[in-house]
Amino acid sequence: MRFGTGFLSAAIVTAAFFFQASAQAADPAPAVAPAAEKTVSPDGKWSLKDGTPIYNIQADGTMDWFTYSGFRRYHSECHVCHGPEAQGSTYAPALVDSLKTLDYAKFVGVVASGQQNVRFQNNSIMPALGDNKNVMCYLDDIYVYIKAMSDGAIPRGRPGSRVDKTAAQGKNENDCLGG
Ligand code: HEC
Repeated sequence: MRFGTGFLSAAIVTAAFFFQASAQAADPAPAVAPAAEKTVSPDGKWSLKDGTPIYNIQADGTMDWFTYSGFRRYHSECHVCHGPEAQGSTYAPALVDSLKTLDYAKFVGVVASGQQNVRFQNNSIMPALGDNKNVMCYLDDIYVYIKAMSDGAIPRGRPGSRVDKTAAQGKNENDCLGG
């Protein structure tokens, strides 16, 4: 287990979340998974205690903004090779299966730096996408979407209801794309 700054900031976010939760005790429980297992940042981004981004699907199926955004970004940047809903194609692996064993750090590394001939032999190339802002600015979104599919937390097909994007999320996105 890692006790770096990620752990510390996650702990602070946890404390902030519990403070907020007790202040709004009348709200219905937001998450399927118990809130203690994950934390949410002030701008609505969910993560596990070690800082790994994670989806949040409410009991009625409503998904967080990042999971929905990941659905859109996956289908514009990855779908052409990895198939609809990350189910794989004849020449690129099913990422829903890959994420059963590939952790977040390795996922980020492969997308940024590429990978060759690990999964298939004949000139099988995952391009390095580290310079592509349309991928890198949304990599956590894409990860949580595929992870939700991989865990069976969301059904296949077009997403239903979602939490809307906040102003803070929109600003972060513009800063990343413009920076
Ligand atoms: C031009 C086709 C292409 C595109 C576009 C593409 N990939 Fe890949 N990807 C591949 C191929 C082919 C492999 C298998 C490489 C190998 O055999 O080592 C792969 C492998 C991977 C792996 C490793 C999986 C494993 O089980 O080893 C990850 C993760 C991945 N891709 C994520 C993505 C994501 C996320 C996107 C979109 C942002 C994306 N890829 C876009 C072709 C592509």
